[in-house]
Amino acid sequence: MGEGINDYTKNIVDLRRHMWMAGVEVELRRLIWQIAVVGKYISAKIHEANRKLAGSKNIYGEDQLSLDRATDEIMKNQLQYSGFVREYASEELREITKIGSGKEKYIVTADPLDGSSLVDTNLAIGTIIGIHKESILDTGRNTMVAALYITYGPLITMMYSAGNGAHEFVLNREGEYVMAQDNIKMKEKGSIFSPGGLRRDWVPGHQKFIEHLEKEGYKLRYSGGFVPDINQLLIKRGGIFTYPALQKSQRGKLRLLFELQPMAFIVEQAGGMATNGKEDILSLKVENINDCSPVYIGSRAEVELAKQFLT
Ligand code: F6P
Repeated sequence: MGEGINDYTKNIVDLRRHMWMAGVEVELRRLIWQIAVVGKYISAKIHEANRKLAGSKNIYGEDQLSLDRATDEIMKNQLQYSGFVREYASEELREITKIGSGKEKYIVTADPLDGSSLVDTNLAIGTIIGIHKESILDTGRNTMVAALYITYGPLITMMYSAGNGAHEFVLNREGEYVMAQDNIKMKEKGSIFSPGGLRRDWVPGHQKFIEHLEKEGYKLRYSGGFVPDINQLLIKRGGIFTYPALQKSQRGKLRLLFELQPMAFIVEQAGGMATNGKEDILSLKVENINDCSPVYIGSRAEVELAKQFLT
C-alpha cells in the first residue's frame, strides 16, 4: 500500500501545530502565524522589485514606493485587520501608530525589511518583529512576550520564540512553514565573529577585544545584514555579532526597539546573551522609538569576555 496523505502529514510539524503543541496562547499564536504569512507577501514584493534587475520596467510608469515603505504598508495593513494588534511601531513610520480599537492585546514593533540596501546584491535580508503586551516606551523593563525574524535568502526561513525556546521553520514549496529545528541551543563558546563599524572608528576597548578574537582564530563572518548575521550565529550554534559604540556615536548604529531587543529575546531563549557591553539589552529602557545602542550578542563566553575588555 502506498503512503496515505495522513501518514505524510502526521510527520510534518508546521508552525501552527508547533505553537499549539508548545502551549502558546491562542491569540499570540494566531498573531505570529499572521506575521509569518506577511513574510510571504514581503518576499513577493522583493521579487517584484528585483525583476527590474532582469530588465522589466513598471509599464505604467507611476512612482513606486520604496521597498522599505511598501513592505511597511503591507505589514501595517495586515496587522490592522488581524484583530490582535492595538498599536504598531516601525522604523519607517517613526512614531507609534494606533491601528486597532484599543482593546486588542498586543503592540507590534517591526523592522519590515532590514538590510534593504542589500536587495540588489541578492544577499539575504530579513524582517524583525517584537510583540509586546504593554507600553513599549519608558517602562524601564522589557514588555516583550514574543519575537520573530524571517530571512529572505535562497530559502525563506523564520525563527520564533514566545518565551518557549527558539525554533526554526522553513517555507516549503506548498507554502507552509514547516519545522526545521526545534529548541535551538547555542554552545557556550563559538568560533565566528561579525564585527560592525569601521575599525578606525572603534573605541580602544572594542579594538582590543576584536584583536583578541582574531588572535584566538575566530573566523570573520559579516554580511552587512543583521538578520542573516544573527541567524548564522544561531544555526552555527555560537559566536558573536558586535556593532559597538563608535568614536563619534556612542550609541552605535542599531536600533534597540526594532532590531536589538527582538534579537536579544530570541538569542537569550537559545541560551545566548546580548548586552551593550555592560548591561543586558533587554533591561535597557527605550525612551524614543529610534534609540540606538551598542551591541554584543551571541554565545555567552564571548559576550562575557567583551564585558571585560570594555570596563
Ligand atoms: O540597520 C541596518 C543594517 O543594514 C543592519 O542590517 C546591519 O547589521 C547594519 O546596518 C550594517 O551596517 P554597516 O553597513 O555599517 O556594516
